[in-house]
Amino acid sequence: MLCSIVLALAALRAGLAIRRARLARRPRPRGARQRHVRLAKPAVALILVGFMAGPVSAVLLRGWTAFATLHGVVGTIAAGCFAAAAIHGRRLQRGGEASRSAHALLSGIALLAAALAAVAGFVLLP
Ligand code: HEM
Ligand code: HEM
Repeated sequence: MLCSIVLALAALRAGLAIRRARLARRPRPRGARQRHVRLAKPAVALILVGFMAGPVSAVLLRGWTAFATLHGVVGTIAAGCFAAAAIHGRRLQRGGEASRSAHALLSGIALLAAALAAVAGFVLLP
C-alpha cells in the first residue's frame, strides 16, 4: 500500500505541473499528461486492490469484524474518492473539461485520506 501511495503522489506531482501551467496560461509541460495518466492508473488500481484485500485479510486471517477500525473507515473514504477521481479523470481524457475541478478536488481529498489511513494502518500491523 505504501508503494501505491507513493505512486499516487508522483501522479499528483505531474497533475499539479499541468495545473500550474494551465493557471499561468502556459502550454502544459511536454509529456506531462501522458506521464500523469501512466502513473495515476496503476496507482488507483493498486489502491483499490489493496482496499479490497484489507477487509478480507482482517476477517479471514485476524478474525476481526470488517470496517470496525478507524483505518477501515478512513480507507473507505480514500478508496471512494480515488474511484470517483478516476471516473472524472477518464472524462477529462475524453475532453470533458467540466470534470476538471471535480477531478482535482477528489484526487486531493483521496490522497489526504490515504495518508491518514496509512498513519492509522501502521498500528494494525502484526
Ligand atoms: C485513472 C486515474 C486518472 C486519470 C485517467 C487522470 C486523468 C487526468 C487528465 C486527462 C488530466 C488533464 C490533463 C491535461 O489537462 O492535459 C488530469 C489532470 C489532473 N489530475 Fe488526474 N487522472 C487520474 C488520477 C489522478 C490522481 C490519482 C491524482 C492525484 C493524486 C490526479 C491529479 C490531477 C491533477 C491535480 C490534475 C490537474 C487539474 C487541473 O488542471 O486543474 N489525477 N488527470
Ligand atoms: C501504508 C499504508 C497502510 C498500511 C500499513 C495498512 C495496514 C493495514 C493492516 C495491518 C490491516 C489489517 C489487516 C490484517 O492485517 O489482516 C489493514 C486493513 C485494511 N486496510 Fe489498510 N493499510 C494501509 C493503507 C490503506 C489504504 C490507503 C486503504 C484504502 C484505500 C486501506 C484500506 C484498508 C481496509 C478497508 C482494511 C480493513 C480494515 C477493517 O475491516 O476495519 N489501507 N490495513
